Amino acid sequence: MRPLDEQTILVTGTTDGLGRALADRLAADGATVLAHGRDEQRGLATVSEIRRATGNDDVHWLRADLASLDEVRGLADQVIAEYDALHGLVNNAGIGTVEGGGRRLESRDGYELRFAVNYLAGYLLTRLLVPLLVRSAPARIVTVSSVGQAPIDFDDVMLERGYSGLEAYGQSKLAQVMMTFDLAEELDPLAVTANCLHPGTFMPTKMVRAAGVSPATPLSEGVAATLRLVADPSLDGVSGRYYNGAREAEPDPQARDPLARRLLHELSDRLCGL
Ligand SMILES: NC(=O)c1ccc[n+]([C@@H]2O[C@H](COP(=O)([O-])OP(=O)(O)OC[C@H]3O[C@@H](n4cnc5c(N)ncnc54)[C@H](OP(=O)(O)O)[C@@H]3O)[C@@H](O)[C@H]2O)c1
Repeated sequence: MRPLDEQTILVTGTTDGLGRALADRLAADGATVLAHGRDEQRGLATVSEIRRATGNDDVHWLRADLASLDEVRGLADQVIAEYDALHGLVNNAGIGTVEGGGRRLESRDGYELRFAVNYLAGYLLTRLLVPLLVRSAPARIVTVSSVGQAPIDFDDVMLERGYSGLEAYGQSKLAQVMMTFDLAEELDPLAVTANCLHPGTFMPTKMVRAAGVSPATPLSEGVAATLRLVADPSLDGVSGRYYNGAREAEPDPQARDPLARRLLHELSDRLCGL
């Protein structure tokens, strides 16, 4: 990998929590940071705070609501139009188990909201940015999943028959792992790697506070585990792994099921119009 101060890295969901802290850290280490979020005012404030705190002016705001696949396409188009290279993509943005009171909500495209925001948006963004990542090689795709995983019922992916925010969150997080394993099989690991992780259990962020859970892991641990996948030179060429913090771990068994992987891949392409 290149030194961080020669890298351009897109992090989704930088207006709060883990994404914000990671963006801070990458900027402090001299990377050009493309800081994504959905709220223009908070995003611009975030970028100016990071610039001021780190002295790094190469921090740039990108707005897109990941609950809309059109906005995801616009985000990818903007990155491709404005940046010659992309060395890192961190799929971090997400919603937890209780947003919307834990009720079933839908994205602007009519898809179950947790599946749409946590998984499908990152799927489409990644697929659209792969050619730029390949041109910029060596490059890394890092996806922030969770240990909270639930197998996908392919007869009811949109969870129309009975709904729990916990299950919806869990299936979206497992889908991210499955996407990572597919990408790792498709891409030359000497060019672009794809890895994912559970950053830490109950870090003190908005989604954990909203769930009324007592924080158990400092945010700094999640930042270190994620930063390691983005920037540790010892992981050059290492691809297709799922980590719990810094330890390699085994995800829900469905992630290794070839039929489930094929069904999810085909469904995702169809839902995204790819
Ligand atoms: N916290 C934990 O203990 C924990 C454990 C395991 C995994 N994770 C994973 O870590 C990642 C980061 O979560 P966090 O704990 O840092 O949560 P957070 O503080 O709630 O931050 C989530 C980020 O995602 C953004 N986001 C949410 N919905 C969006 C949308 N529709 N469009 C664009 N951006 C959107 C949020 O934007 P706003 O600021 O506008 O809301 C925020 O920037 C998530 O993928 C989560 O599943 C967290």
